[in-house]
Parts: sequence; structure tokens; C-alpha cells
Amino acid sequence: MAMAMSSDVSISFVLVIVTLSWLCTFVNGGSNSTTIYDELRAKGLPVGLLPKGITRYEINSSSGEFQVWMKEPCNAKFENEVHYDPNIKGTLGYGQIGELSGMTAQELFLWFPVKGIHVDLPSSGLIHFDVGVADKQFSLSLFEDPPNCNPEVYAINDDVLRAVW
Ligand SMILES: *[C@@H]1O[C@H](CO)[C@@H](O)[C@H](O)[C@H]1NC(C)=O
Ligand SMILES: *[C@@H]1O[C@H](CO)[C@@H](O)[C@H](O)[C@H]1NC(C)=O
Repeated sequence: MAMAMSSDVSISFVLVIVTLSWLCTFVNGGSNSTTIYDELRAKGLPVGLLPKGITRYEINSSSGEFQVWMKEPCNAKFENEVHYDPNIKGTLGYGQIGELSGMTAQELFLWFPVKGIHVDLPSSGLIHFDVGVADKQFSLSLFEDPPNCNPEVYAINDDVLRAVW
């Protein structure tokens, strides 16, 4: 009896969760709330290129110029560490972002501005970061979901850098 009751409770609990998540999807899809992640997906780019915590974005649908804003600068770790400024700008095209600013990638303790990003068409499973001095390749699978972005890491690295230099 006790067992039957607890399994009933857990079934109801699961139902509530399923219903809630369905409602959330429905409400989001129903209202006019396109996100920058939707824009990326629509251009064949992985949503994990931009971190969680984006508070606002703008896009010019004819030129593809976009901007996103976050509350504070932060860092995310893919294979390399990537730093995001609170304002990131770029031009979104199919499979690519050009004229990018506000994003830097760490390579051997140095930070390089990421000037552009593109995926191969058809997909090779790789994504390319143009860091000026080189084309840096990463596996697309690293960018499946928007990463958590940590506001403190950059400061720590900065201190380490200062100590090193
Ligand atoms: C969604 O919002 C955009 C920009 O505010 C507007 O141009 C568009 O017509 C809206 N779409 C719908 C379905 O309300
Ligand atoms: C959007 O881009 C087009 C083409 O570059 C430009 O003519 C237009 O002024 C832009 N719109 C805004 C609101 O910036």
C-alpha cells in the first residue's frame, strides 16, 4: 500500500513536470520571443557559440548585423577558454559570423580576438574560429548548448597573466 502510494505520487510529480515543461514550450513558441539562439540555429550555426545570460539582442534581418548584451563580461570553457564582453557584435550569415567583436579566445596563455566564425558546408563536424593569426578548428559537438559563463574566471586569469609577465 505504501509502495503503491509513493509510486502514484512520483507519477503525478512526473506528470506535473511534463505538463509544466510543455506549457513553457507552448508559451515561448506562442508569444513573440525569438532568441538569438533561434537566429543562430536558423543560420546553421550551433547555439553554444553564445553563452547563457544574454539579456537582450538586436538583429537587422536584411544585413544580418546583430548585437547581444549581457550583464557583465564572462568566460566559458570549451576546449579553450573563451571570453565574452558584455556587448558582442557581428554580422550573421548562413553558416558564418563575420565582423565579430567582443569575443576573445585563449591560446597558450594569450588572448586573441575572434574576428569571424564559420562552419563547413556541408558540415565536416568542425567549426573554425578566425583569430587573425590562424584558423582555429574545434569540434562542433563542443557547441551544442549555450555554456554557463563564469564572470570570475577572467579576473583570475588576468592576475595569473600579470604574475607571469
Ligand atoms: C515579432 O516581433 C518583431 C519585432 O518586434 C516584429 O517585427 C514581428 O512582426 C513580430 N511577429 C509576430 C508574429 O508578432
Ligand atoms: C539594416 O540593414 C540595411 C542594409 O544594410 C540598411 O539599409 C538598414 O538601414 C539597416 N536597418 C537598421 C535599422 O539599421
